[in-house]
Parts: sequence; structure tokens; C-alpha cells
Amino acid sequence: MFMEIKIDLKNAGIDKKEIMKYKEQVENIHKDLHRRKDDEKDFVGWLDLPTNYDKKEFKRIQTAAKRINKDSDILLVIGIGGSYLGARAVIEALSSSFYQMQTLKQRKHTLVLYAGNNLNPNYINELIEVIGDKDFSINVISKSGTTTEPAIAFRIFREILENKYGIDEARSRIYVTTDKAKGALKTLSDEEGYETFVIPDNIGGRFSVLTPVGLLPIACAGIDIEKLMNGAKLAQDNYNDSNLKYNECYQYAVLRNILYKDNKTIEVFANYEPKMHYMTEWLKQLYGESEGKEQEGIFPAGIDLTTDLHSMGQYMQEGLRNLFETVISIDNPKSNITINSDDDNLDGLNYLAGKDLDYVNKKAMEGTIEAHVSGGVPNIHISLEKLDEENLGGLIYFFELATAMSGNILGVNPFNQPGVEAYKSNMFRLLKKPGYAAK
Ligand code: PA5
Repeated sequence: MFMEIKIDLKNAGIDKKEIMKYKEQVENIHKDLHRRKDDEKDFVGWLDLPTNYDKKEFKRIQTAAKRINKDSDILLVIGIGGSYLGARAVIEALSSSFYQMQTLKQRKHTLVLYAGNNLNPNYINELIEVIGDKDFSINVISKSGTTTEPAIAFRIFREILENKYGIDEARSRIYVTTDKAKGALKTLSDEEGYETFVIPDNIGGRFSVLTPVGLLPIACAGIDIEKLMNGAKLAQDNYNDSNLKYNECYQYAVLRNILYKDNKTIEVFANYEPKMHYMTEWLKQLYGESEGKEQEGIFPAGIDLTTDLHSMGQYMQEGLRNLFETVISIDNPKSNITINSDDDNLDGLNYLAGKDLDYVNKKAMEGTIEAHVSGGVPNIHISLEKLDEENLGGLIYFFELATAMSGNILGVNPFNQPGVEAYKSNMFRLLKKPGYAAK
């Protein structure tokens, strides 16, 4: 078992002594989180999850994934926000960048596709076309069981599934991940007898990737979920020290708040690995919904590099100085490629002959960090030894813990999302949903 996450804060321009001023506050928040973690009515269940998960249900997830791999070309994951982003982040990070174009033989497992994360008719129609006559199953995921986007998508694809396989076989191809007792999805699931997985009461959507919410789709994509949990467990052990001096996760959380107070109100997550794009999307949700409230909160943004150096690079270097950058890099890529010498050298690249592409990518990263720091963008650098299940499990836990600590330092409740209701009630009123009166 191996997990290595390195955190480099030296380019953030903040003295360690400044960070250590938060020692007592951090200790108190740590104690408070640990005191609350077993409370069924609170939302801190993720804290102990890597050691405390339901082992029987975990086995059931592995069995269901095997079954889906046997009988389905496609698994349609229907969910939105915390009910799909974590799974997608892990699947994209550990798959080929072109996995959607691979054949089943090349991929060696079911293709995971997503629905219910928007309301766009083109998206749904094109997805129906792609599924065509292929065998598919559905994993519908919703903690509340009432979210409109996934509910509509489920209604559409359930009908397609039933028309294709008949009611009985369709039933065996539907997997529901929801609350253990309440919500429309739970009622429907009980009525129809779908195989159901439980989202624990004390774990909120965006903290739920290591529950069945993320684990079933991830396992279907051929990823070892035991290793993922092991990595999270290593992070749980690693970042369990209440003493800020020894806890790098808490140091990062404190640093974000110091930068925020210094008017650095936007954290830009940067990666140099296209597979990490959805990890950034997950992070945007994790921080955005956890901290953006009461007119407070760092705005989480993301860039894929070096791609976006040719678009957002200009702003990063010389735009409004309210940014700090958190680079997440991978020390050792899964594969590499050497740049060959060319007799004519018309492209002038022979100075790189014999060097590999990862070397060039790393130099681009070092040069960019240097440029951004000297341009007034403080830098935090988080690096993983390699992209695998253990390191990703560790990274997920690291950021969940950092979010909880950071939100508490900021003085907001990181576990609720009252602001999400505003668009919903307007939409329901405009759609004339019963109970939503016209203004
Ligand atoms: O983090 C959260 O709580 C949200 O992003 C939810 O995951 C999202 O709104 C989906 O909710 P539900 O799972 O209830 O459909």
C-alpha cells in the first residue's frame, strides 16, 4: 500500500509563523469535527469513512459491477453535482484520454456515460442515439431522490430500458443509489424492487465519492475500489494530527484563508494532465458549494495546462491580482515519449532531441509557476507520485478534510448549500409545479 502526496507551500509568500497563528483555532475545529463524526444527524460521516464503511455493501457493489460488466456495454450514470462528479473525476483520471472511443476489447470493461447532469434535449437525444442497440444498465444516483435533472433523465431512460428488455429484465438492469428511507427515488425503488445502495445520512453529496455514489460507477469502469479506499485510509492516518505544525492538509487550509484575507479571492486549480480535468470540476463543486455563502468564500476556478496558457495564461500573468494558484501535478506519468532528432531540423526542435515529453511538460510547469509567482500569483503545489487508485483516494480525502477545515476557519457551515434552492424554486414556479405559486 503506497500513497504519496507532497505539498509545497514555499511559493505562497506566507511565512510559516503566520500559518502557526491559527494553531489553536485549528485544534478546536479538529476536535469539533471528530466529536461530530458519529452523529447520524450531522454531516461529518466522511471523516471516518475509509475505516468505517459498510463492508457488506462494498462487496455487493463489487458483485453488481461484475454483473454490469458481463451484461452491459454501457452503464448510464444518472446524477448531478455530488451525485456524479466524484465518480467521473476518478474514472477520467484513471482511463485513457480517449476511452469513449475505445472498443470494448481495448477498454476491457463497460463504458460509463452520464445523464441527468443538465436539461439539454440535444444531449439526451444524442445519448439515445449513441446507446442505440447496445446493451445498457442504469445507475440512478440521488441522495434527496427528488432532484429534477436526474429525475427527468431517469424517466426517459427507464422507459427506453423497459421498451428494450421488458419490465422484468429492465428491473434487473436498474441500480439505485439513494437515501436509506426517504425520497421519491426510494419509494419508486421499493415499489419496483430495484437493487439499491445507500448514501449514509451523515454524508452530504459532494463528500460522497467514497460511498456507493462513486464506488459503483468507478468499479464498473474497471478501477480497483479497494485500492481507492486504501489510499483514502492512508490519507486519513496521515492527516489526523490536530497539531497544525504536523498536518500539511490543515496548513493548506489555513494558507487559503490567509490569502483570502489578503484579497486573493480566487483559487485557480491548475493541472498539467488532461485526465485531471474532472478532478478540477469535482474540486470546484466541493469548495464552491461548501464555502460560497453568507457573501463569503474563495471562488474556485480551474485551468488545464499547458492548453489554457494560450487562453487564460494572459490573465493569470497580468490580470487583476486577486488570484492564487494551486497546481496539482503528477511526478511520474503512466507513459512517456522521446523526441527524436531530425536531420533537417526545420522546426528547430533538435535542442530537445533525446528528451522526453514529460520532461518538457515539467519544465513548462516550473517555468509557469516561476512566471506566475513573479507576476503576483501565490502558488501552492500539490504533487502525486503517480496517478493511481491509492493516490487518488488519498487526494479525495485530503481535499474533503481541507474543505471542512477551511470552511470552518472562514466561519461558514461547509456542509450545507442553502443557495442552491433559489434557482429551483424559481424554475418550479415558472414550470407551474404544484405548490409553487406565481409571483
Ligand atoms: O453536494 C451536494 O449536496 C449537491 O451537489 C448534490 O450532490 C446535488 O445537488 C445532487 O443532489 P441529489 O443527490 O440529492 O440529487
